[in-house]
Amino acid sequence: MNDAKNFPDKVPESVKVLLIEDNPGDARLIREMLRDIKNSVFEIEHCDRLEGALSRLLLKGIDVVLTDLNLPDSEGIETFRRIYAKAPKLPIVVLTGFSDETMGIQTVQEGAQDYLIKQDVSSVLLARTIRYAIERNFAKLASEELVGTITHELRAPLTVIKEVISQVLEGLFGEINEQQRRIFLMSMESVARMARLINNLLDVYKMEGSKAELRKEKTDLGALIKEVVEGLTPKLWEKSLEINMSFPPLAVELSLDREKMVQAMTNLISNAIKFTEKGRIEITIAGQGGAGVEVTVSDTGIGIPSEELPKVFGKFEQLSNAAKVKEKGSGLGLYITKRIIELHGGRIWVESEFGKGTKFHFTIQK
Ligand SMILES: Nc1ncnc2c1ncn2[C@@H]1O[C@H](COP(=O)(O)OP(=O)(O)OP(=O)(O)O)[C@@H](O)[C@H]1O
Ligand SMILES: [Mg+2]
Repeated sequence: MNDAKNFPDKVPESVKVLLIEDNPGDARLIREMLRDIKNSVFEIEHCDRLEGALSRLLLKGIDVVLTDLNLPDSEGIETFRRIYAKAPKLPIVVLTGFSDETMGIQTVQEGAQDYLIKQDVSSVLLARTIRYAIERNFAKLASEELVGTITHELRAPLTVIKEVISQVLEGLFGEINEQQRRIFLMSMESVARMARLINNLLDVYKMEGSKAELRKEKTDLGALIKEVVEGLTPKLWEKSLEINMSFPPLAVELSLDREKMVQAMTNLISNAIKFTEKGRIEITIAGQGGAGVEVTVSDTGIGIPSEELPKVFGKFEQLSNAAKVKEKGSGLGLYITKRIIELHGGRIWVESEFGKGTKFHFTIQK
């Protein structure tokens, strides 16, 4: 077991707060509030620009970040995103005004531990929020680490089971009858499903927070898509589905993490096959200019009810239409796909007509 942890065990005795705030009055107020607490354990380092704070975060020693969102060199949610990208393992508490409370909520949805409305802050509330944020962050890191370890450890025994079942099916341990073959084939299907789930969980783990890294190289996107389609040909034949690809005449060269992009395309095209009983799947790449490209995967399948569309990219989200198909999934494919596209700086969205078909679009910058 790999038990090398990369975060401390408990809340530190003294807490080093990185305060990012350009308004000198607000910064002084926060400083005074934290000093006023009895037996205060808080120590403040102050930056009034985001750039300075990001450089400071490269060095060790900060326990929690307390940040305003509107700074001279960064505005709104982008401020939070840039801090989180630089220090995904640190708890971040965001300071907002009355008027932009919704932005505070959005930062929490994207990974901030908490937000405080400046006009409401008192010294007790501030101290409690910071301590709470640190505790919750430890709990979050510990559970992520646990999922990573468990899924990793589950892979090896599963490979052994798979190997043994194939040997039985090949007759290596003597002849088997039809009934036995059916039962072993069924077990093999369950093992394959479990392997898919474990691999997806591991991918989710790898792609969250600090572990997400891209290894980009110059890649011909059209050729990559053709390779993915080729790998899925048996599934297309099984259902007698037609597939059309329409790409620009010249190769579309982009800087991509090849392995991750293969995974994103595999997820989208496998979904199109899985949720389509008859008709066609179409893949297009549009645009080639400076602005990047838009890829579309469309199918003539069962479609998605409009009220469920906002949920498609959620974690473990399988919609009501998933009950209609034979192959059981985990509801992680599109969550992972969205993460991959966003890591590449792109955007993904869906259009669908229930009963008629679905179109997934994503953009990738040059
Ligand atoms: N092309 C599509 N047509 C209709 N519904 C779709 C399509 N793609 C995705 N969905 C719906 O969105 C849900 C989420 O898709 P996602 O790929 O995340 O999960 P999954 O395919 O069920 O499982 P997994 O990909 O983890 O094996 C699906 O369960 C299905 O309800
Ligand atoms: Mg899927």
